[in-house]
Amino acid sequence: MAFFLNSKHIVLQCMLLVLSIACSCLHASEHPLTLDYYKSTCPTVLEIVRKEMECAVLSDPRNAALILRLHFHDCFVQGCDGSVLLDDTITLQGEKKAPENLHALKGFRIIDRIKNRLESECPKTVSCADILTIAARDAVLLVGGPYWDVPLGRKDSKNAGYELTERNLPKANDGLLSIISKFISQGLSITDMVALSGSHTIGMARCVNFRERIYGDFPATSGMNPVSLNYLSTLKSVCSADRKSDQNVSAMDHVTPNLFDNSYYRILLRGEGLINSDQELYSSVLAVQTKKLVEKYAGNTIAFFEQFSESMVKLGNITNPETYVNGEVRKDCRFVNT
Ligand code: HEM
Ligand SMILES: *[C@@H]1O[C@H](CO)[C@@H](O)[C@H](O)[C@H]1NC(C)=O
Ligand SMILES: *[C@@H]1O[C@H](CO)[C@@H](O)[C@H](O)[C@H]1NC(C)=O
Repeated sequence: MAFFLNSKHIVLQCMLLVLSIACSCLHASEHPLTLDYYKSTCPTVLEIVRKEMECAVLSDPRNAALILRLHFHDCFVQGCDGSVLLDDTITLQGEKKAPENLHALKGFRIIDRIKNRLESECPKTVSCADILTIAARDAVLLVGGPYWDVPLGRKDSKNAGYELTERNLPKANDGLLSIISKFISQGLSITDMVALSGSHTIGMARCVNFRERIYGDFPATSGMNPVSLNYLSTLKSVCSADRKSDQNVSAMDHVTPNLFDNSYYRILLRGEGLINSDQELYSSVLAVQTKKLVEKYAGNTIAFFEQFSESMVKLGNITNPETYVNGEVRKDCRFVNT
C-alpha cells in the first residue's frame, strides 16, 4: 500500500513538472500592471468601486460571492480580460451560456452599476477587467476577509472564449488531478489552488453540483457521527435524489456562510465538504500536499489570509498576451466598443 501511494505520488509530481515547464512560457510575458495605474486619469476609482460594493454586499452578502466567482471565471478563460462579462450578439458568442456558466453566474448588474458611475466620473478610462478585479478584492474584504493591493492596467478583450470555458474551468466532480492540472496550466501552483478554493467559505452551490456527493461518499468521508449525519439529512431535504431540485441551493460553508474565514477548511477536516472537488483536497488518496495545506489553513487564519491574498494577485495577473495588443477599454462591459 505504501508503495502504491508513493508511485502515484511520483507520477503526480512528474506530471506537474512537465505541465509547469510547458506552461511557463505562456505566462512569462511582462505585466504592464501597476498599483497607481489610474492615479492621474481616475484618482477616485477605488473609492467608487468600494462604495458600490458596500451597497451591494450590505443589501445581500451573497453578492460578495457572486463577484468573486465572476472574477475567477473571467481570469481562467483567456486571462483577466472581462471576457466573461460580454453578452451574446449576432457576431459574438459570449461565455455566459457555456454549460459551466449557465445559471451559475450572477452579479453582472453590479458591475454595470460600477461601470456607469465610472463612465460619468472618468469616461473611457477604467477597463471592465480592472473593475472586476478591484470589486472581487472589495467583496472579500467586506465579508471579513483580507485586504491586498490590486495591480491595475488590464485591457478588455474584443472576443470571448466559449469553448475555453468548458476546457479550463474546474468542475464540481473533477478529480484532484484534473483540478490541479487546470490550475497549473494557468501558471498557478497547488498551494494557490488550495488557498483560492478557500473562496468557498462564502457563497452557495446548486444541488446539481453536489447531489452525487451527498447521495455518494458523504457518509464515508464524514464518518458516522450524528452531527454530520444530521447535516446530511438537511442537505437531502434541500436536494432530492431526482432532478427536480437541480436549482435548489445550499451554502458551501454551512457554519459561517456569509463570513470570509477559514471555516471551509475546518469543514473539510470533518469530511463535510459539500462539493466533491473540495472534499478531495483532503480525502483523496492522492491528497498528500493538499491535505497538509488544508490542515494548515484550518488551524491558522493568518496563514490562510496571507496565502489567499498572494494567490489572488497571481490569479489577477493571468494574461493573454493577445489582449494587451488588441485590448480596449469598453464603454459598456457587456459589449465590445463599436
Ligand atoms: C478548485 C476548483 C473549483 C471548483 C471545482 C469550483 C466549483 C464551484 C461550484 C460547482 C460552485 C457552485 C456553483 C453553482 O452551483 O451554481 C462554486 C461556487 C463558487 N465558487 Fe468555486 N470552484 C473552484 C474554485 C474557485 C475559486 C478559485 C474561486 C475564487 C477565487 C471560487 C469562487 C466561488 C464562489 C465565490 C462561489 C459561490 C458563488 C455563488 O454564491 O453563487 N471557486 N464553485
Ligand atoms: C503580479 O503582477 C505584478 C505587476 O505586474 C507584479 O509586480 C507582481 O509581482 C505579480 N505578483 C504575483 C504574485 O505574481
Ligand atoms: C427545494 O428546497 C426547499 C427548501 O429550501 C424544499 O422544501 C424543497 O423540497 C426542495 N425541492 C426539492 C425538489 O428537493
